Amino acid sequence: MNPIAKLAPIGVYDSGVGGLSVLQALRAKLPGESFAYVADSANAPYGDRSPQFIEARAREVAGFLVGHHAKALVIACNTASVVASGHLRAAYGLPIIAMEPAIKPATLVTKSKVVLVLATSNTIRSQSVARLCHTYGVDTRVILQPCPGLANQVERGQFDHEATRQLLEKYLHPGLAAGADTIVLGCTHYAFIIGEIARVAGPSVTVVEPSDAIARQLARVLASSSRTPENGASTTTFYTSGSTRALSDFLASIGEPSTEVHALPPPRLR
Ligand code: DGL
Repeated sequence: MNPIAKLAPIGVYDSGVGGLSVLQALRAKLPGESFAYVADSANAPYGDRSPQFIEARAREVAGFLVGHHAKALVIACNTASVVASGHLRAAYGLPIIAMEPAIKPATLVTKSKVVLVLATSNTIRSQSVARLCHTYGVDTRVILQPCPGLANQVERGQFDHEATRQLLEKYLHPGLAAGADTIVLGCTHYAFIIGEIARVAGPSVTVVEPSDAIARQLARVLASSSRTPENGASTTTFYTSGSTRALSDFLASIGEPSTEVHALPPPRLR
């Protein structure tokens, strides 16, 4: 039997486990919907991959989800979004929600007028981020901090871990020393270590995490495109290009036990 739910699912895609933080917010906001989550963990992290590679993977995964009747796609990955959302929108007619670092909301919150953005190297050097800084960085200094290795720590489940803390101290220090009072989580993996980030940053710093905003955006898009759920049981199906065991273990560790995880089929021959 096709493991995808009877209800047309919302496809959710990330390089790995980071997008599960977004999935949690989507399910809380839209409990009547079904979801199909793809973790491209065999190829994670995307942070320093070439844009060509990321685009090819995004096309492959989107094709898989569309082939399984996804009615909308959430690219729960800033890196894949800034590299590939334009290509996916041009290729597919379904609603596509993409992510970019929440620089605009952060500039509305900051009092010190210094904002620190944590993201992957690919996201930091993207045109999307340059455009956001140009538009919203007029009276606010936006410090862009690439964080190599941090998504990997989350991928390994090492949240409360010395190596993670050392990376956070290294990546947060320059921005905090420059007076940042607001931190933007520009990578979905970092939501799983928001507690550790807040601890290193201290109580006077606000951490902006965008998954609730993404959930609200998806709800609006579904309502306006009349793609509300039909009757039926809502389910979530998980796929990974990496180890199904590793994803099951990660899911159990975040309170999603006894979930079946499927192997993502290998890339199609072209
Ligand atoms: N979760 C991803 C993001 O939001 C990317 C992490 C990675 O694969 O480097 O950017």
